[in-house]
Amino acid sequence: MSLLAGKTVLLTGATGGIGAEVARQLSGEGARLILTGRSVEKLRALQNQLAAETLIYPCDLTSTAEQQGLLQFCQQQGGIDVLINNAGISQFGLCQQQQFSDLVSINLLVPMQLCQLFLPMLHQHKGQILNVGSAFGSIGHPGFTGYCATKFGLRGFTEALQRELAESGVQVKYFAPRATETSINSSDVVQLNQQLGNSMDSPTWVAAQLVKQLTSNQLRRFLGWPERIFVRLNGVFPALVDMGLKSKLTLIELFAVGKNH
Ligand SMILES: NC(=O)c1ccc[n+]([C@@H]2O[C@H](COP(=O)([O-])OP(=O)(O)OC[C@H]3O[C@@H](n4cnc5c(N)ncnc54)[C@H](OP(=O)(O)O)[C@@H]3O)[C@@H](O)[C@H]2O)c1
Repeated sequence: MSLLAGKTVLLTGATGGIGAEVARQLSGEGARLILTGRSVEKLRALQNQLAAETLIYPCDLTSTAEQQGLLQFCQQQGGIDVLINNAGISQFGLCQQQQFSDLVSINLLVPMQLCQLFLPMLHQHKGQILNVGSAFGSIGHPGFTGYCATKFGLRGFTEALQRELAESGVQVKYFAPRATETSINSSDVVQLNQQLGNSMDSPTWVAAQLVKQLTSNQLRRFLGWPERIFVRLNGVFPALVDMGLKSKLTLIELFAVGKNH
């Protein structure tokens, strides 16, 4: 029997490309799901596809009142064993074109706030938190200044919290996909990835890796071998990665300012 069978999992961003696949696979493992996203229609459609018990709670997570509503809903359902902070947005463009506040709010502040809100419940259940970061949480990439900042922040928060809770019985994990085929990536980003020769994973495979990490003791997981090497290289010899990305800058800028059409 799966280690996740009968566990109650709160999944944010459940209606997205990766989230919906994670929901399907967790349901297949027999987990009881509480799914969130802003669209009630998308949540209902997903709920209708799933075999295991699935509850939905539509909300905008950037509202602290709606976060409180979600907490109360989960309390009424007997609490949760697993919190997956998966909701996120992205922006591609030069620094001066970006709107930072929404990025920081949903990608960084919301997962931090949800960890804080749900910690007492997770302590009681000896549960776990899994925060969905990105390869861009370890590699600063031109065209993604805001997104990289939020995912670097989320990685730092996750590491600090994991160390703070090391003796508590609550596990805190960081999961970092590389580019994945979902609608978070605009057509410009998809075309840029093709021209740069960057691989894109399927959400089904990414979700399977996430579910695997939930049932293991692995605290950090980075997907894709070239990305894993770049992450390490960037940590030790960042000047090498500076040079690599500088050689691709003209192409990235063309896409970032929309002059590739
Ligand atoms: N796809 C990639 O290339 C890639 C690579 C690395 C990491 N990631 C990370 O993986 C996670 C999932 O990404 P994805 O590719 O599945 O993206 P996606 O398909 O765009 O899904 C994003 C999800 O976040 C939810 N969301 C956004 N804003 C919200 C808000 N204010 N309140 C509540 N929910 C909100 C969306 O729901 P509604 O819009 O219905 O509210 C949707 O369910 C993100 O954290 C992303 O940064 C993705």
